[in-house]
Amino acid sequence: MTGRPPSVLLGVTGGIAAYKSAEVVRRLRDLGCEVTVAATPSALNFVGEATWAALSGRPVLTSLWQRAESVGHVSAARAADVILVAPATADFMARIAAGRSDDVLSAIVLMAKAPVVLAPAMHTEMWLNAATAANVALLRGRGMLVLEPDSGRLTGPDSGPGRLPAPESLADIAYCAAGAGPDRPLRGRRVVVTAGGTREAWDPVRWLGNRSSGRMGYAIASAAVALGAEVVVIASNVDLPDVAGALTLRAGSHAELESAVVSEAARADAVVMSAAVADFTVLAQAEKVKKTAGEAPVLHLRQTSDILAGLSRNRRQGRPLLIGFAAETASEPQVLIRLAAEKLAAKGCDIIVANDVSGSAVFGDDRASVLILDHDGPQLHLADEPKLIIGGAVCTVIAGRLG
Ligand code: CTP
Repeated sequence: MTGRPPSVLLGVTGGIAAYKSAEVVRRLRDLGCEVTVAATPSALNFVGEATWAALSGRPVLTSLWQRAESVGHVSAARAADVILVAPATADFMARIAAGRSDDVLSAIVLMAKAPVVLAPAMHTEMWLNAATAANVALLRGRGMLVLEPDSGRLTGPDSGPGRLPAPESLADIAYCAAGAGPDRPLRGRRVVVTAGGTREAWDPVRWLGNRSSGRMGYAIASAAVALGAEVVVIASNVDLPDVAGALTLRAGSHAELESAVVSEAARADAVVMSAAVADFTVLAQAEKVKKTAGEAPVLHLRQTSDILAGLSRNRRQGRPLLIGFAAETASEPQVLIRLAAEKLAAKGCDIIVANDVSGSAVFGDDRASVLILDHDGPQLHLADEPKLIIGGAVCTVIAGRLG
């Protein structure tokens, strides 16, 4: 990623999910991106040009013949650090698979040297149709990142695969893809990312938990998708939109997280343990604990197993690559390095991402400062960077280690 904010060309094609493109523009702008929207004629049936123009602060490209003297499709394609098409209809994918350039957006895609990310959205039958599947395979083979659609409610009462993933997440993936360049070094790799914080119930309505929001894990997962990995997110109590193109599994407690991670690790090339896992669980009461005047209930805590250390003990030939996190209250860099190095050794993982959580400002924030260490010592220090940039750096280190 260069120092300047990424320039994103957002293509919109004619499906009902086109209305969600307005939210994509908003999130990209919040991330600091310059956004130019290019819409197909069909997309204009769903959203008015003024919506995108107002949100992006730039004119919208709607026709090859508009401002012909400036050859808009050529300059737009050259200026983009990434092209995100959301939604991408079956018809649009068929046209670009055939190399057509009969509207401004397909002409831009045909011109593109920047990474191209497609977010298909359509009815399940169209998505599963052999023609669409063949076009998707062709486009993937040519290096485009074609995200899997979400499964869920479609235009009418029906549901199934074909839904556009969350607009915020599509924007995050485009942001990461802009920084990553056209090579996708995690292509063909399976990366498992745990995110959020476990909760240990002490009666049917109460729990012991922690303040992790899951933002760091989701940022790493977004970057891994952008770098071409097949990504499984194991989310513990995360209140964020699912990561586009990734499979999300839910695990609420330490025990649920452990069983999900152990089963997913068996097929993974890398496991990133960014979740804040409870070190103690509680012997839970079956009934709600009633308050009795003057009495404080006593919670009986039991230490949990260390999931990361267990993965490390049980792996064979160094696979999967294991990345741990070290959340420490250590504002002195030397203390943070020492604590992180101790954790790296104690857990037997390959890489540790250490952060200072003094003052708890980092929880739920979009930015953080981290130190990435391996057995050779500190490798990278990122100070007050967006979590998406940190996610990209962690994934680049993973890609380097996987070779
Ligand atoms: N971790 C784990 N299982 C646990 C506790 C932590 O797998 N029972 C993982 C976390 O996901 C993280 C790393 O271990 O990747 C370090 O977690 P952290 O909370 O910083 O350290 P702890 O091992 O809990 O040690 P302490 O709380 O004493 O610092």
